[in-house]
This record gives sequence, C-alpha cells and structure tokens, in this order.
Amino acid sequence: MDVLSVTSEVYPLVKTGGLADVAGALPLALAGQGVHVRTLLPGYPVVRGQLKRKKPVHQYADLHGGKASILPVQIAGLDLFVLDAPHLFDRVGGPYGDTTGADWPDNARRFAALSRAGADIAAGVVSGYAPTLVHAHDWQAAMTLAYMRYGAASALPSVMTVHNLAFQGQFPASVFPLLGLPPQAMALDGVEYYGGVGFLKAGLQAASAITTVSPTYAQEIRTPEFGMGLDGLVNLRAGDLHGIVNGIDTGIWNPATDTHLAETYSARSLKGRQANKRAIEERFGLDRDDGPILCVVSRLTWQKGMDMLVAAIDALAGMGVRLAVLGAGDQALEGGLLAGAARHRGRVGVVIGYDEGLSHLMQGGSDAIVIPSRFEPCGLTQLYGLRYGCVPIVARTGGLADTIVDANEAAVSAGAATGFQFTPANLDAFLHAVHRALTIYEAPASWKSLQLQGMKADVSWEKSAARYAGLYRKLASKGHQPA
Ligand code: ADP
Ligand code: GLC
Repeated sequence: MDVLSVTSEVYPLVKTGGLADVAGALPLALAGQGVHVRTLLPGYPVVRGQLKRKKPVHQYADLHGGKASILPVQIAGLDLFVLDAPHLFDRVGGPYGDTTGADWPDNARRFAALSRAGADIAAGVVSGYAPTLVHAHDWQAAMTLAYMRYGAASALPSVMTVHNLAFQGQFPASVFPLLGLPPQAMALDGVEYYGGVGFLKAGLQAASAITTVSPTYAQEIRTPEFGMGLDGLVNLRAGDLHGIVNGIDTGIWNPATDTHLAETYSARSLKGRQANKRAIEERFGLDRDDGPILCVVSRLTWQKGMDMLVAAIDALAGMGVRLAVLGAGDQALEGGLLAGAARHRGRVGVVIGYDEGLSHLMQGGSDAIVIPSRFEPCGLTQLYGLRYGCVPIVARTGGLADTIVDANEAAVSAGAATGFQFTPANLDAFLHAVHRALTIYEAPASWKSLQLQGMKADVSWEKSAARYAGLYRKLASKGHQPA
C-alpha cells in the first residue's frame, strides 16, 4: 500500500518540535507493516542543499507567484518528494518565521502551495506514482484535503492528524481568492471559519478520518476546554475520530548506543548515568552532589506550563533539588528562568536555545524530567525519559496521562509505576508531585525499580504503526466517504 504523507517538518532535516520526530519515524515503522510512505516536504534551504542532480517529476510555471517543481530524493531512509519553490521556501530563518521568530507574512500562500502540490500528487501528476491514501499532518498540510475534495482526487481516502489543535492556520477571508478553490468552498462545511479561512478546520471537514496523537487528547478535544473553538466540528466527526499514541524511534533514542552521551548504559547497569550526570553538572554550572537533578527540555510556552516552572524555582531550590533547563520560546519565560538561575547559582542552570545533542545527554543523566503541561496532545520527552531511566513527573493530561503510570501505592506495590502524575496543572499540585518523587528518591531501591519499569515500557512505534496501518486499510477498502 502506498501512502502520501504531507508535512512541514521531518527529523532529521527540519525540526521545531515533536511533529518532525513523528513524521520522520512513522514511515520507517510503517514499512514493517507493508505500507510504503512517501513524504512531501517544502524545499527549505537545508533540504534544497540535498537536491543536486535530482530531476523534477513535476513542474509548475506558476505556483503562488513563482516557478516550482517537485523532486524525489531519499534522505535518512525516507522517500521524499520535495516541493522546490524558492520564492516561498528558500529563506533564511525557520520553517514558519524569520530569525526574530515573527511568522512569515505569506504563510497562507506557502502552505496552500504545499497542500496544492500534495493534492496534485494525489491526483496523479507524478507519473508512475498513485498513492492509495493521503495523510496530512497539522494545519500546514491540512489544505491538501480541501484541494483533494474540490479537485480530481476527491474519491481518495485521507487521514488528518492533529498534533496540536492550538495551531489552526487561521487567516482573513481576503486569503480565499489566492487559494484557487471554487467559490462554493467558502462555506460553513468547507474552508470558511469564523468569517475567515481555517486551514486545519478545512482539513478536519474534508478528511475521511481524523486522528490525534493520544486517546486521551482525542476525548479532550471534544470539550470546550480543550477544543479551541473546533470542539463542535470535532464532535460532529466523532465517529471518524481516533486517538493513536505516538511512539519514538528507539534506534535514535537508545541509551546503549547514543553518541551524545558521556557514557552509554542499559537496563542491565545504570552506572553509566553517573558520568552523564557529571557532564550535566558541568554544562549547566551545577554544584556537584549526590542529590537529584530534575531536567526540563521544552518549548518555553504557556502550553508547556513553563510559567509554573518559573514560579516554582525558589520552592524547588528550597527542597534541595538541582534543576537543569534547556529550552527556547517566549522571551518573558526565558528571562524568568535566567533570573531564577541567577538567584540560585549552582542549583539552577538554564541553557536558552535548541540543542538536540544536549537534549539526549539530559535524558541520560538527569534523575527526572519535569513536564507540567496545561495540555499535551502526546508529548515525546516523557517517552524519551522512560527509555533513558529519567523518571517523568508530568501533568495528568493528554498523552502524558496515557503513557505514564503514577507511582501511587497500588502501582508501586504491583511494580507497575513509571513516574509521577499531578492534577490539576497548578503550582501546588506540581510541587506536591516533586515532593512525592523526592520521598521515593530517598529509597534508592524503590527509585531504581521505577527507572527499570520505565525502561521496560514499550515506547516503540510498533503497536501504533500497526494501528495506523489498520486504519489506512479500512479506509482504503471503503474509499472516501464524504462527512
Ligand atoms: P512539542 O512538539 O509540543 O514541542 P513534544 O514533546 O512532542 O512537544 O516534542 C518536542 C521535541 O522537541 C522533543 O524531541 C524534544 O526533545 C525536542 N525539544 C524541545 N525543545 C528542545 C530544545 N530546546 N533543544 C533540543 N530539543 C528540544
Ligand atoms: C505536537 C504536540 C505534542 C506531540 C507532537 C507530536 O507538537 O504539542 O504533544 O507530541 O505534536 O505528535
């Protein structure tokens, strides 16, 4: 079975968050299920660098204001189609904005173009390639399904995956004429959204099936609290809604072979973690002692509860723990963290920035990873934590609720616990969870059994890839049924 995946990021080429990890790892796991995935990705500068001597399989004289072509390339075991459209994607900066972090003003055009190319491939413009199904990820790819619906590939089944309902691709109505859709598409059951155009909304409307990245988040987004204005539509489509939890690439995230670690280790002996802990102390300027190090690897945003972390710093330092934070995001949060580090030299260390290698080391040497998210569609860092024996302390929401077994008395005596959950997502509950963790940390055998139980958890893609493959096959046999 051939599936065309459309996405704006793919690890190891372009990554701003978990979407890239998923878009990079899922195709490899699906190969084992007899599903061949081709991934359509924009030709950002780092991607273009790899296109030399590749021949286009399709060309556009004018795609949203300039020449464009689709080129096939294989990178890191992934079969890619690259949409090379220099006027839209060959820019210095990130995938969505410039170096200052401001969104590109023409994002509607940029991702409409990506989606147009996806729908054209679905409709057969690349000779010799006819996908059975199209899988679109997040708002950046969502319009693919709208272009399919109003174009030549309207009978092809499709899956819309919501990695984060907070990002919707909402644009003013003035964008509509640029899209090249028929006038009837500007309707309540089309792309129209609160008087403007909603890219994700259009995808949710047009998809044969909708998935989110954990079962709990699939339920949560049916409520006004988590639905971000789309809960009405999500409820209408509840019969086609599935929650499939993310896995991780256990080849890349393997403490026994990870070259980013100061010392590798495995569940047979956790001794190597000590050297990694020493390396973290160095990198973050932390005092050297035998107490626990809590770490955070995160976008610094309200979603991730990072304001709560800032507010918790003095209390955490007072509890005797050390804290190592790696992240980038809101300037006020960056400032709050740096100020906390300045107040508690040797106890709190902060690195502002994005550093893939350091994120591995932190999982390999910290005692616990803290994830106080207000909502979390799935979350990957707690899965990396499980795999590395870095015990997750998480808010009980979305995928965090689904993947961590709280160390309550029953779970501890059954030997099932893998971490700590707290609810609601507020400072008191958070500090209480840290307190519970410290109590168990004082009993090394109990702590070790938490670590080992986590390391045993199946965080691979295997089960979830089988669920995607099952869904694809079901949809392929039914064909697209309009909602
Ligand atoms: P989200 O996609 O919402 O940011 P996830 O937990 O799904 O959250 O994925 C985040 C991914 O980005 C993980 O792979 C995590 O390790 C990585 N990450 C986040 N911030 C940083 C950072 N500052 N440096 C390195 N990796 C980071
Ligand atoms: C989004 C979500 C995160 C999820 C990731 C990959 O960025 O915020 O929870 O793990 O997508 O699906």
